[in-house]
Amino acid sequence: MSLSGGMILAGAASRLLPVSVPFRFFVAAVYFHCFVWLVFGFAAAGATDFIGGLGAPLAALHVATLGVFSITAMGATLQLLPVATRAPITALWRAKLVFILAFVGVHLLVAGMATGIMALLLSGAVLAAAALLIFAIITAINLWAAPQANVAMAYAWSALSALILLLAAGLLVAFDFQFAFLADHSSVAAIHFVLGIFGFFGLLAFGFSTVLLPMFTLSPSVAPKMARAVLAIAVIAILAAIAGLLVHDDRLIVMALLAGMIAAILHIVEIERVLRRRMRRKLDLAFVLIRVAHGALVAGLLIGLLLMLGVPVPGKWTMFGWVVIGGWLLTFLFGILQRIMPFLASMHAGKSRGRSPLLSEIGRERPLRIHAVCHFAALILIGLGIVTGIAPLLQLGAAAGFLGSLAFGWFAATVVSYLVPRNEEPALKAG
Ligand code: HEM
Repeated sequence: MSLSGGMILAGAASRLLPVSVPFRFFVAAVYFHCFVWLVFGFAAAGATDFIGGLGAPLAALHVATLGVFSITAMGATLQLLPVATRAPITALWRAKLVFILAFVGVHLLVAGMATGIMALLLSGAVLAAAALLIFAIITAINLWAAPQANVAMAYAWSALSALILLLAAGLLVAFDFQFAFLADHSSVAAIHFVLGIFGFFGLLAFGFSTVLLPMFTLSPSVAPKMARAVLAIAVIAILAAIAGLLVHDDRLIVMALLAGMIAAILHIVEIERVLRRRMRRKLDLAFVLIRVAHGALVAGLLIGLLLMLGVPVPGKWTMFGWVVIGGWLLTFLFGILQRIMPFLASMHAGKSRGRSPLLSEIGRERPLRIHAVCHFAALILIGLGIVTGIAPLLQLGAAAGFLGSLAFGWFAATVVSYLVPRNEEPALKAG
């Protein structure tokens, strides 16, 4: 069974967590978004050909993957999962503990990655991994308690399995820097990459799309058969990539990239099919980012395929990483976040004030336009810097990205300010 936009909306209001729970994650992600561009600015000199190893580029990568992606994914999942599973999340202290462990853990881990100080790296790795593990347990309990299964939940289970494996691989490579016990460190690091970017985030992004995009546009639901087929092909692609990296068989990696492209294209075609039948005709800036992100995913997989077939792609695997992590995941995430935050704020405001304000009343459009322009400028400038090896182009890109992150911070502040109780409404304090 899959859920149409209307069905999801009907269930959402009755399963709202106290507003501070998801919003602490969203606000932290907005802060890490500013922080990542600052670190990237400092890392620029070593980032033009980065493919792993300790240092500022790796730190910047984990401010993005842990600070921005993971923290947003945790906040969104904790609030949206009960809507999809129709089972409430209880014991909110666990969600609050996850937040504290993640926030502190990420700072320690990236400080350790940037400086090479093992005590920082390993303590941060353990705290960040503990946060994601407790999050995985909360989510698994909620999925298990669901009265009825649906396709979004199949994506969630698969993403959770990838999360557990990515944490194991991440802890292995982290502790290997101290104790040097891994026979093949770079393969474990590459497997960690695949499980993180395509496994946990890729499957979560696809799964969320089947719930959120119909909800945002009041579209009919995605075809469950197609969504399940996409999931199956994507999981086969991820397993083939891991096997190929483990046994050093390039044919398996080529097959994985091909299967990944098929899954991505089928997913995008299905999403576009339901969007064509939407009731809310106007598609705003969020969908420009989401569609650019979809294009970057296919382009990234194509770059990977060409590189595996020996075609000289400018910027090589660094370009592959940038197109997939910056072009797809970062762009997609801010497309979704700029819709989730006002959507949740309107739900809470509706609950406390007896009427749901229009989304256009919450959150300003201009900062979002500034963010989009700066974000795309950052993507292009950094791409050019990777191709040419000219570090100042990366610094210019990081400056554009930082400006965009401040604009997004401005937008987030206008949304959060809408939640601040006004004199005539003391009720909100409870949240
Ligand atoms: C507790 C959590 C995590 C820990 C302890 C961790 C640790 C590490 C370490 C030590 C490396 C360096 C490997 C090397 O280059 O030699 C690394 C690389 C990497 N990590 Fe993580 N990581 C964590 C979470 C994540 C997450 C959630 C993602 C993303 C989705 C991620 C994505 C990456 C990527 C893309 C690389 C580069 C891999 C490569 O060099 O091929 N990490 N991680």
